[in-house]
Amino acid sequence: MTISKDAVDNLSSSYPRERKSNFYDSNYLAEYYDLWTQSKGDAVDLRSDANVYFSTLKRSLQVHHRGEPYTILDVGTGTGRVLINLSDDAAASDLDVSDVELIGVDKEQTMIDRAQAVHLGTPSFTNFSHVSWVVGEATCLSTLPVLSLKQGQIDLLLFAVGSISHLTSVNEPQRFFAEAATLLRPGSGRAYIPIQSDLICRGSLSEWKLNEDTWAEVRDTDEFVSKLYPGVVYRQFPIHSSTVKEGVKYDKYNFQVVERVGLEERVVENNAIEISLRIWEVDKLLQWAQEAGLVCVEEFKSSHENYFVFRKV
Ligand SMILES: C[S@@+](CC[C@H](N)C(=O)[O-])C[C@H]1O[C@@H](n2cnc3c(N)ncnc32)[C@H](O)[C@@H]1O
Repeated sequence: MTISKDAVDNLSSSYPRERKSNFYDSNYLAEYYDLWTQSKGDAVDLRSDANVYFSTLKRSLQVHHRGEPYTILDVGTGTGRVLINLSDDAAASDLDVSDVELIGVDKEQTMIDRAQAVHLGTPSFTNFSHVSWVVGEATCLSTLPVLSLKQGQIDLLLFAVGSISHLTSVNEPQRFFAEAATLLRPGSGRAYIPIQSDLICRGSLSEWKLNEDTWAEVRDTDEFVSKLYPGVVYRQFPIHSSTVKEGVKYDKYNFQVVERVGLEERVVENNAIEISLRIWEVDKLLQWAQEAGLVCVEEFKSSHENYFVFRKV
């Protein structure tokens, strides 16, 4: 639902102090992420990626030796969207996943909490040998207890919906690739790393320009009704600042959690969101992966993403 700014100003409101947010770091934002992806999924390939990952799993299991473990690691799992889709798709097509273990890792406790809650409402997860949701950083995966004994044993590693672009600090992509190389099963293990096409630069970074036609940015004030918290509405304002500095795109906008009773409203969480996303020079991406011991074996495009598939050298 789109509402006018006047309508917003006319409502009586009170504002708690603004909190800086990265878009994923509150329980409300975790629910909002799901509401947003369900309503805007087309803009960021949220269904076509399910087909990519499910067909990859199906192909891999055709050559997998029954009885041996097969492990999928979903980095930046968020609220578990990709693993939930995989699980439901496997159940719908009667794929035997009894050897398959799923591990979802995310750096935000709030996203993991929501993934765990959604898990309870996803009966198809019982078809897997084990499912775990863990708080952890993409740049130090192998130090996590759940992964410390999995070196060389990850069959499929995902970092879905361009989330690798969140690795904006110096050396973070290199550290993530080093972790992926440590964890992937030699020979058959694959890492699927999609990057939003708009964030890919084939030449030098100074030539990069945003494609305004395809970029799925927050352009309108929008409201989403919470399904979890009675009377709560999420109000998302348009981006008010968008800048690019040293290969990173910074978008800022406000996001309020509003409790409504009739025409009265109270803002209960007042977020100043800043999302920072890396813009990728393909040559550098491939070089960093190679230096970590990974080789790109396949590259393909979907409507909004470029997928890079890596295996261990
Ligand atoms: C765009 S969401 C994607 C969620 C989910 N994979 C999906 O496809 O719907 C990005 C997720 O990556 C997580 N994330 C960002 N940086 C991370 C890092 N360095 N390590 C682990 N997770 C990270 C965020 O907390 C967020 O949940």
